[in-house]
Amino acid sequence: MPILSLSDVSLTIQNHKILQDISFDVEEGEVIGLIGPNGSGKTTLFNVLSGFLKPTKGSISYKGKDITNLNPSKRARLGLGRVFQHFGIFREMTLEENVQVALEAMPREQRKQLGDIEELVKATLDMASLTSHAKQKAGDLSGGQMRLLEIARTLKSGKELLLLDEPTAGVSPKMTHQVADIIQELKREGKTVIIIEHDLPFIGRICDRVVVLDVGKMVLSGEPEKVRQSKELQEIYFGADPTT
Ligand SMILES: Nc1ncnc2c1ncn2[C@@H]1O[C@H](COP(=O)(O)OP(=O)(O)OP(=O)(O)O)[C@@H](O)[C@H]1O
Ligand SMILES: [Mg+2]
Repeated sequence: MPILSLSDVSLTIQNHKILQDISFDVEEGEVIGLIGPNGSGKTTLFNVLSGFLKPTKGSISYKGKDITNLNPSKRARLGLGRVFQHFGIFREMTLEENVQVALEAMPREQRKQLGDIEELVKATLDMASLTSHAKQKAGDLSGGQMRLLEIARTLKSGKELLLLDEPTAGVSPKMTHQVADIIQELKREGKTVIIIEHDLPFIGRICDRVVVLDVGKMVLSGEPEKVRQSKELQEIYFGADPTT
């Protein structure tokens, strides 16, 4: 059974068809790259998957359960995690406190399953290679470091399916490497990841499969290398950008 299944997901806002009949399955442990030109609907699809927008048509199931009508917090409780840029990082708190606060805000039942909070805080900072900054204020971190902290924190909070929207945007090349390492570590842990990225070589390195959106439709899906070499992809990208 796929961990996530989208069936004919469509979203129309004021007669504007933003997503159209998107159907695909994601298997547990898969790393999927979601690509497509600017405005093709990638972030909107994440909003629909995480429950911030309700599709006009179609359904979404997670581990065999229909979640189409569940709100974001209910979906999060089921194990669906989303990483926003800089979302929920308190700049005045230390890194340690930031992670601790996020873990303590979780429902008690879920928190219990995670084990010792102190250990978990350490493991989270370690994952983001930020252990030596534990007592520093989060506001002093670089954008890339905040991003890593945010990703590690979501990951360590027991989520099983992770939605990452351009995690390397504005991040240095070194940090991009670290993000790739974290995603690979997740894969080893059996987590499922859907990642939106414009950096195609990055996608090629870390993804099992690529799904391509163009004007709200899923136009291609397949192994990264095959998608990269496909004529359709060239047409989408070169057709979409009048400057190239
Ligand atoms: N709430 C909304 N109301 C109206 N239009 C919207 C809304 N949200 C998104 N759109 C439109 O939907 C389309 C898809 O936007 P979206 O942000 O999902 O694209 P994207 O693929 O993530 O682009 P980018 O690569 O630039 O991040 C755009 O035309 C956008 O203007
Ligand atoms: Mg976007």
